Amino acid sequence: MKDSSKSIRIQTDQTKYREHSTPMFLTLSFTYHDAEHAATMLRGEGDRDIYSRFSNPNTSELIYKVCALKEAESRIATASGMAAIFNTLCAHLKSGDDVVASNSLFGNKMYILHHILPEWGIICKFVDLTDQTGWEHAMTATTKMVLIENPSNPGLELVDLSWLSSLCKKYDVIFALDNCFATPILQKPMNHGVDLSIHSATKWMDGQVRVLGGIVVGHDQYVSPIFDFLRRTGASMSPFNAWILSKSIETSELRMEQHSSNALRLAEFLESYKAINRVAYPYLESHPQYDLAKRQMTMGGGIITCHLVGNQDDCFQFINKLNMLSITANLVESRTIITHPATTTQSKLSKDEQLKARITESTVRISVGLEHIDDIISDIAQAL
Ligand SMILES: Cc1ncc(COP(=O)(O)O)c(C=O)c1O
Repeated sequence: MKDSSKSIRIQTDQTKYREHSTPMFLTLSFTYHDAEHAATMLRGEGDRDIYSRFSNPNTSELIYKVCALKEAESRIATASGMAAIFNTLCAHLKSGDDVVASNSLFGNKMYILHHILPEWGIICKFVDLTDQTGWEHAMTATTKMVLIENPSNPGLELVDLSWLSSLCKKYDVIFALDNCFATPILQKPMNHGVDLSIHSATKWMDGQVRVLGGIVVGHDQYVSPIFDFLRRTGASMSPFNAWILSKSIETSELRMEQHSSNALRLAEFLESYKAINRVAYPYLESHPQYDLAKRQMTMGGGIITCHLVGNQDDCFQFINKLNMLSITANLVESRTIITHPATTTQSKLSKDEQLKARITESTVRISVGLEHIDDIISDIAQAL
């Protein structure tokens, strides 16, 4: 069966009512036939659900669907994308280890790396995503993990995943990638040697701004410690959120195709516009890594980053003149969104850190939605 069919047909076993759509399993615990069965289950030797902090039929259905899309063997669902990241870091790192991360990452990840992990004796080093020599120099005997977003947020730069995974293998380092922008529909990190692929399910997976969620998939040896940590510390996904996300994933391929085709049309339009200095979009021929993007991604995705002519005031004026686009902090959802990263999502970074992440006062990020492309273009054109 094709990935897209699997992500639609995988379903929790029917109950005695033979329902066609999976019901919500809003139950905290599950019962046992007898005392011996309870003892077997609690020894971890059974294959049924025990307690919804560990697993639940709704979260299991969701993660099997995501696994089918990414061809990974092991997976967990978490309360949010940040919980997915944080549990991954906590489960694998200890005092004295170091993490090498790309210097263009979502602001809250940067906060964890700059402020929380160093307090616990974990050293965090930052490298320009595209700088191969920088990655080589950063690896040491104490490096335990590499963490990147690919494409990066909001710069939309790429790294050659197969090259970086070979470097990680050479130094016996876990390679963790946030696949939020590309999604498993457009980029299959496991095929390039990535060990852990992490998601904010809040974004493309729901696509309709309703619930939070996170997913980690990868090889069992790397996912199992995260599951052990999570089931004890509790940042698990709620069955309600899993139920919503599992329904949404059935339309994810169609949605990602539409996001990508709208985004490419908009990127081409913006590129021809004199009020814009530079447009970054992986599937634009002018993108410095266009060939790599074509090799690693099947489409360009729904995010465009533009650098306008002018300063922050000009940017704000442009944003305030938009009639249809939403001003909000989300991405890859049905409605088109505009964000000014320097003053919102990445505002806690210093000016120097922002520049390293390719953010200036005139940078705007557009998450291209599913409205008709003519309406998106005409709103942006009138505001420009
Ligand atoms: C690339 C990326 N990763 C992770 C997150 C965090 O996800 P969540 O809001 O589900 O915790 C975000 C949120 O915007 C993001 O943009």
